[in-house]
Amino acid sequence: MKLIDIHSHVLPFIDDGAEDWDMAMQMMRQAEKDGIDSVVCTPHILSEKDFKNEAKIYDIFAGLRQKVTKKGISVNLELGSEIYVQPYIDFKQKIATLAQNGRYFLIEFPLNLTQDFLFRQFFDTLTENVVPVIAHPERYAYIQSKPERAYELVKKGALLQLNAGSLIGVFGQHIKELSFRLVDANLVHVIGSDAHDLKTRPLKLSYAYQFVANRWGTEKANEFFYLNPTRILAGEIIYVDPPVTFSAENKSVKTKWGQFIRALRRD
Ligand SMILES: [Fe+2]
Repeated sequence: MKLIDIHSHVLPFIDDGAEDWDMAMQMMRQAEKDGIDSVVCTPHILSEKDFKNEAKIYDIFAGLRQKVTKKGISVNLELGSEIYVQPYIDFKQKIATLAQNGRYFLIEFPLNLTQDFLFRQFFDTLTENVVPVIAHPERYAYIQSKPERAYELVKKGALLQLNAGSLIGVFGQHIKELSFRLVDANLVHVIGSDAHDLKTRPLKLSYAYQFVANRWGTEKANEFFYLNPTRILAGEIIYVDPPVTFSAENKSVKTKWGQFIRALRRD
């Protein structure tokens, strides 16, 4: 079992991830214990202003790398970011693509949006040589309300990154069921921790690897947790299994999703 995590908020002092150096180091120890070989630090980039913080982000990243080496923690660290969808992304910036691979970048959309326009606009403005890796599609109301939209996103050329916690119900039963359907339909390409802390969203992947291996086989698990992440970090082409459209069958599940969206809005 080899594990690479392309989505984590382990850098302290930047976003809602690790609170301080101590917590960041504990998360790195957690990753080592879990058998993770490599972790990409992907702090939230919410606006153009955050992109201007690149130098500060890089300094903190270099600091963490140094501390990890000093303490003999055998986990490789890379730098990237999780970009909140915005009108213009400068892909020349170091943190724009994961591990500076120049091709793949991690992108996040608003959780509660159900309209098409933002997704359409995003793909219209995208230049040809970059590939969006869409973070946690299973958490978006856009996908929950019409899961077949995941197929459309993949058809447009995106890769989809599921959160490890979604598979075991961290975000609720409906997101868990949706995650299963996405994997069944070949609409998942990589699984990341999206780690924010030590307990609720930890820097661990092995439990999700085992879960995938048991349910879908080790070949799929290796693809999600090691082979595709390796290709992403190297900027290599990824050949995906042909996606399958969602059919109209299983109406009861659809109804449940509908109820879930309404529940979300009440919050
Ligand atoms: Fe994230």
